[in-house]
Amino acid sequence: MAGDYSNNNDLPVEIGGYFGLDMPDFGDAFADTIKFQSGRAAMRAVIERNGLSRVMVPSYVCDSIIKAARDAGAEVEIYGLDGSLYPEKMPLFLPERSALVYVNYFGLCGPNIARLLEELPPERLIIDNSHALFAEHSGALASVYSPRKFAGLPDGGLLRLSPGSQPVSPGEEDCGSFARMKYLLVRMAYSAREGYADFNSARNSLVDNSPLRMSRLTRRLMRSIRWDRVIERRRANYMVMAGIMDPVNDLKWSIAEKDVPLCYPFAAKGKNVNKIKKELAGLDVFTATYWPDVLPRARANTIEATLVNETLFLPIDQRLEKAQVEKVCNLVLELMGKYPVKN
Ligand SMILES: Cc1ncc(COP(=O)(O)O)c(C=O)c1O
Repeated sequence: MAGDYSNNNDLPVEIGGYFGLDMPDFGDAFADTIKFQSGRAAMRAVIERNGLSRVMVPSYVCDSIIKAARDAGAEVEIYGLDGSLYPEKMPLFLPERSALVYVNYFGLCGPNIARLLEELPPERLIIDNSHALFAEHSGALASVYSPRKFAGLPDGGLLRLSPGSQPVSPGEEDCGSFARMKYLLVRMAYSAREGYADFNSARNSLVDNSPLRMSRLTRRLMRSIRWDRVIERRRANYMVMAGIMDPVNDLKWSIAEKDVPLCYPFAAKGKNVNKIKKELAGLDVFTATYWPDVLPRARANTIEATLVNETLFLPIDQRLEKAQVEKVCNLVLELMGKYPVKN
């Protein structure tokens, strides 16, 4: 390509002409990662390149990870979790060319990863940090990240590898990001409600997990985010919410010094969480579901069933002020009184 690429963003230095969007450039906060179009594509690339033929995947995960492993040519074995979200039955032996995928759920499962690294050979472990964008790569074979769950981005997946892994590099550049931008623009100018259908179509367009290089658009957008503020506010908001909700939460969480949570998972066993979720949405408080995909796999009276059916994933993200976090807590507590029992 012709031109002067002397700035650090691989963009030609051009002078004059029409204007683009006025976005700051804070540099690449994830310079040590390999960049893909999605987390699932990064996962597929690791499994494929390391020739893994058998991969253990938790039952409590979105289908995209199961699909990525299968598309990489691996046989998938599903495992359950215990009450602390640790694998219920650890495999006594993981043979060559097999690995266990563990999800750092909600960015709050660091201690489980440390324990797994003691119990399994690190090269048999792949960490899905899609919920834990700021978690360090901990010595496992690979760590996979999905930045669009933490900030307004059309797509993207990041990968960190251990020296024991085969080198992994994505293929051609993803050219789908421009078409995935609409929901971000609608949300910016109008509302989340009006952008929701576009958000779903953008998400659905990631179904093809053939590993591609992250688009230059997504890379550029990632450089415009104050990730240090994202970290600070998420942690602060989580702690405000935990201060109010921990005493009434049926699941116990603890946030370590460097954890940056995705959300605050609030479990209310026996309560009608679905009704509460709907009422919250009616009040413009939107909560995610992790994951509808799990429903057919979740056995009754398991932690998976509690997480899918009886848990609200409350927002603590960087857009929220302390007063809004408190407001969400008060609404949930009020609605818990209104819908005391299931059904
Ligand atoms: C735990 C987990 N892993 C992986 C993914 C896939 O990430 P991506 O949408 O970036 O492919 C998701 C969400 O879709 C997820 O929740």
